[in-house]
Amino acid sequence: VSLKPYNTFGIDVPARHFVRVTTLAALRSVLSLPALQAMPRLILGGGSNILLTQPFDGLVIKLALLGKAQVSEDDEAVHVKAMAGENWHDFVCWTIQQGWAGLENLSLIPGTVGASPIQNIGAYGVEMKDCFHSLTALEVSTGTVHTFDHAACRFAYRDSMFKHVAPGHYIILDVTFRLPKKPQWHTSYGEVQAELARQGVVELSAQAISDAICTIRRRKLPDPAQIGNAGSFFKNPVVSTVLAESLKKQFNQMPTYPQPDGTTKLAAGWLIDQCGWKGHVEGAVGVYEKQALVLINRGGAAGSEICNLAKRIQHSVMAKFGIEIEPEPLIL
Ligand code: FAD
Ligand code: EPU
Repeated sequence: VSLKPYNTFGIDVPARHFVRVTTLAALRSVLSLPALQAMPRLILGGGSNILLTQPFDGLVIKLALLGKAQVSEDDEAVHVKAMAGENWHDFVCWTIQQGWAGLENLSLIPGTVGASPIQNIGAYGVEMKDCFHSLTALEVSTGTVHTFDHAACRFAYRDSMFKHVAPGHYIILDVTFRLPKKPQWHTSYGEVQAELARQGVVELSAQAISDAICTIRRRKLPDPAQIGNAGSFFKNPVVSTVLAESLKKQFNQMPTYPQPDGTTKLAAGWLIDQCGWKGHVEGAVGVYEKQALVLINRGGAAGSEICNLAKRIQHSVMAKFGIEIEPEPLIL
């Protein structure tokens, strides 16, 4: 089976076995087949945060568990549960249509609900953890379904506990969100306020913020249906504030984002841009002309070509700034 339709980079490599599962029972029976048990496994949602560099000599399990509903309510919040295979953006739109707020800043992020806790997706001043309540996951080795609360997931910037156990050890089945009845709007990031003003918004609402963020994202990020990509290819580096300040003396235009824990986040896109990579074209691969943090497949690229370009970008950022930048997607 070609994995090309199943990864947003559009890399054309085959998988030895591919199965799409729509129920927990089907997932359990696939996992219990002796012939498949010994081989490598890849749990796949929307394929929007992976880079395939070679054929996958194992079993790909595309999770297509569907369903979403309100599960409870108290004075302060509603609890909403969605199955892992639900499309993230459709889920966000549905919560907004129900009159609930909290997820609007995370509009238009590709992928599935089940992958959202893995790297604690974030955008425009909000992270998934801000509305997360709990999730359930199947522990493959024991067949047990566990519930994980907020603390157990150990969320951080583009990180969670799930990135620190063997890949595929847990399969996330569903996620429950706690959406506050008294919404708190987050509009101070980047151009959000300017875009709201441009759209003539006088009274803030989840719908208005979602619309503004969708407009900004469409302007800056390539649509994977047109140009293969996985969003930001690198994480923004988090460094000591002492280091950030000494760099800022040398490069006074450099954006810095002070963090609550006393560290400072830098903008990898700015660092890469300063090294002259923005809009760089090299055969089938390139750096997106409107966002230097996004590597693109211009058509027919091999994953290894993207990897090679990424390595050269890392070296040049290291040479100019002394800063190491790490890839965000899972590279296979
Ligand atoms: P996949 O790519 O299918 O999988 C990603 C990882 O999670 C893999 O390791 C996979 O094995 C694992 N996984 C997936 N589902 C499960 C599950 N149910 N159980 C266990 N493991 C699982 N990310 C952001 O945080 N913010 C952004 O603003 C953002 N913008 C983007 C814009 C574009 C145009 C693109 C292409 C990507 C962007 N991303 C962004 C990255 C991506 O959308 C997210 O990481 C998303 O959560 C990936 O979801 P997915 O279902 O496609 O995961
Ligand atoms: N910048 C440049 N040149 C560029 C790109 C960015 O100078 O080519 C500057 C911008 O002008 C701005 C700063 O860098 O001052 C930050 O840029 P932006 O606001 O576009 O955000 P980002 O840091 O590039 C992060 C996330 C995105 C998320 C946006 C919005 C990471 C790795 N990326 O990008 O997430 O959508 O903020 O919140 O944290 C993703 O993870 O895949 C992703 C797209």
